[in-house]
Amino acid sequence: MNQTNNNNNNNNNNSVVTSIDPEISNALKEEQMQDQNNNFLPNLNFIKKRNIEDKPINIIKRFQKENKPVFIAGPMVRYSKLPFRQLVRDYKTDIVYSPMILAREFVRNENARLSDFTTNNFDRPLIVQVGVNNVTDLLRFVEMIHPFVDGIGINCGCPIKEQVREGIGAALMSNKELVSDMIYQVKKIYGDKICIETKIRVHDNINETIEFVKSVENAGVDFITVHENVNIPVIANGDCFSLKDAYDIIKYTKCDGVMAVRGILNNPGLFAGFDKCPWGAIEKFWDYSTAYGLPFRLIQHHLSCMMEGLIDRKSLIGLNETNDLIELLEWFDSKYDLKRPGEEGFGEGINVPIREDRNNMAHL
Ligand SMILES: Cc1cc2nc3c(=O)[nH]c(=O)nc-3n(C[C@H](O)[C@H](O)[C@H](O)COP(=O)(O)O)c2cc1C
Repeated sequence: MNQTNNNNNNNNNNSVVTSIDPEISNALKEEQMQDQNNNFLPNLNFIKKRNIEDKPINIIKRFQKENKPVFIAGPMVRYSKLPFRQLVRDYKTDIVYSPMILAREFVRNENARLSDFTTNNFDRPLIVQVGVNNVTDLLRFVEMIHPFVDGIGINCGCPIKEQVREGIGAALMSNKELVSDMIYQVKKIYGDKICIETKIRVHDNINETIEFVKSVENAGVDFITVHENVNIPVIANGDCFSLKDAYDIIKYTKCDGVMAVRGILNNPGLFAGFDKCPWGAIEKFWDYSTAYGLPFRLIQHHLSCMMEGLIDRKSLIGLNETNDLIELLEWFDSKYDLKRPGEEGFGEGINVPIREDRNNMAHL
């Protein structure tokens, strides 16, 4: 992948633009914002401007008109990083989330920015999910990241204790005023330029959930992920493990789209109609994860999840016991016909090409 960056921005023009056509003024402001952001994430200067067509709310509206559901790969801490996102895009996933990024760290620490968020020009439509508990951090986060994403999702569902203790994730479900204020403040500055989503959990008390949803709707949120009867688009999340599940969920909930998480982790080809992970996805994942980079343990975990439904337990244990990338690759090569990019049929296989089988066939 070409990540070289020859963009020498020397934008010292911070003057306020007055008495010119408001459209030009807005365009200039937007350019200034983009330049500022290049200072926050200089490693991403090579990223091209966002395309309005990729804005999640526009995709949802377009699909509504065509009377078809939107398929979404939801946020997964650690796992929904660039190589996996690229993989599910190859299999008819319409919108993909990043893992939750903690705004507090991201806005204060350059190293957190470099390690928490990588992307490329194919990584769209992309929603970045943010874990946040105050307006200031959110505004700063949005300012830094918005040129590199198509939407921003506020995590109001994560039940992890450490996050909840800090007022992040599920804790926000009992603070509709704060969530609504966060959305309102972002919308006040950016308006339609930024698509905002909230992913929520349903309260034990359903009326509280309805109150929450109405409040964020009034604050200007573009869509939510859960199932409620509201006037903004709604994405259903939970227990989608096949394309049939996706259509059943749409039928029963009448939602605008379906988000899969555990299902798509095991089977990135889910939305393309594969019942189990197609072998080609494993070859592609090897390619993407080694080209874009991912820590060994994450590569191993992804491959283990994808192989889970394809091979027996004993073999899976063997995969999980490998200790480095070379060992893992040798393990695959010794057992299966793992094609590399450029080889005929790369990324296209469906069934597991077991080497013994091939050898036996050759003897016939
Ligand atoms: C490994 C893993 C990581 C997750 N990380 C996040 C996250 O970062 N943010 C979030 O809102 N939900 C997260 N979730 C919850 C999922 O997004 C989703 O709401 C939940 O798994 C139910 O959907 P499913 O039945 O399709 O798996 C995570 C779930 C899993 C299994």
